[in-house]
This record gives sequence, structure tokens and C-alpha cells, in this order.
Amino acid sequence: MPNAVVAPSLLAANHGDFAQGVRIVEEAGLNWLHLDIMDGHFVPNISFGPQVVADLRPLTKLHFDVHLMLTNPDRFVAAFAKAGAERLTVHVEADHDIAQTITAIKSHGMSAGIAMNPDTDPRRLLPYLESVDLALCMSVFPGFGGQAFIPAVLKSIEFLAAERAARGADFRIEVDGGINVETGRQCRTAGADTFVAGTAFFKAPDRAAFARQLTA
Ligand code: DX5
Ligand code: ZN
Repeated sequence: MPNAVVAPSLLAANHGDFAQGVRIVEEAGLNWLHLDIMDGHFVPNISFGPQVVADLRPLTKLHFDVHLMLTNPDRFVAAFAKAGAERLTVHVEADHDIAQTITAIKSHGMSAGIAMNPDTDPRRLLPYLESVDLALCMSVFPGFGGQAFIPAVLKSIEFLAAERAARGADFRIEVDGGINVETGRQCRTAGADTFVAGTAFFKAPDRAAFARQLTA
């Protein structure tokens, strides 16, 4: 199983001062930043685009874990590569040739992830597990931060963890939505290793301690 990672979601930071959000994540001693990109079509909200990612890139060495909640993610692979994303995760429910999009992500030198919504059958991810290095299980319906964790995700995590073990594979299993110390631990027990936290991270009185508890 890959080492445990906490990836704070910039969605929960002040959108008028993303640079400060980046500093907060660095000050907590973390290495990853989760960037939620929403198009107002695949999900009922709009967040920010590649220019924000490009403008943050020179400010930090954080690993940019970009989660594309877009109907046509294939159209934006090059833009996010240029902006400095290290990792692009696309949804299995979106409207694209998934295998081709994964190939395009990797050909731009980025790591590729495949994401699923809470009500999606995890078996839909099976054809892609050989070609991605991260599977993202949404534990809320994507679109907004601050929602309640949906426990049904634990079954999907367990399914993917069993697949990973059976294949001797080492792709990450990331969980995203409603993650706090308690729900994070449940996901960890189920087999997740990569924890996106927005609201709980930014609101934590001691963010470094929060991250330590999540991965302890
Ligand atoms: C939801 C996003 C999440 C979100 C998580 O659409 O993909 O990354 O920011 O936020 P919290 O931790 O507040 O549920
Ligand atoms: Zn996300």
C-alpha cells in the first residue's frame, strides 16, 4: 500500500487569496495540494481554471493533484499540463474516451487518476486500473465542499483495495468529500491511503495535528 498522504483541497480556502491557502498547506508541513476544477455542467458549481493553477505554480513546490469535474476533461489536458499540474484525475462518468484521455495525460508527463461518484459501480474502474496510478472514490456527490461523508464509499474502497492486492498493483486509493479524523480512519481501514480534506483541514485549530491524526 502506498504511504499515507493528506491532500488539502484549495476549494475550502479563501478564493480571494489562494496564495494564502497555499502557504497554510505548506505551514502544516504537507506536500500535496488538491485542486478541484468544476465546469458548472458535470457538477452544479464553478470553481476556477488553469490560470489559477498556473499562477500558483511558481509560489510552491507542493504536488498539484488536480481533480477535473468536467464533462469534457480531454479538452483541458494540455492546458493543465502547461499550468504545472503534476497529476490529473478524470471521472469515469464524464463524456470522453477514457483510455485516450489517460494516455494523453501521461504523454504530457503527468500522473493519471480515475475518479468515481459515490453511486457508481466500482467495477467500472476495472479497465483502467492498469494504466492509472490513482483511483479516486468520491465520498460526497461532487460540486461543493462541506458535505456529509457517504459511508457507502467504504465498500468501493474495499473493492478497489482487494483488486489492488490481487493484482500486486500499487495505485493510490484516494477518498474525497466529508473527510475528517473519524471518516478518514474508516477509509484508511477500508484501504484508502490518500485523503482529500477541505473544510476539516482549513477549519482545524491545529492543521498539522489534524493531518497527523488522519494518517496515524
Ligand atoms: C467536492 C470536491 C472536494 C471537496 C472536499 O466536489 O471534489 O475535493 O473540496 O471538501 P470537504 O472536505 O469540505 O468535503
Ligand atoms: Zn476533489
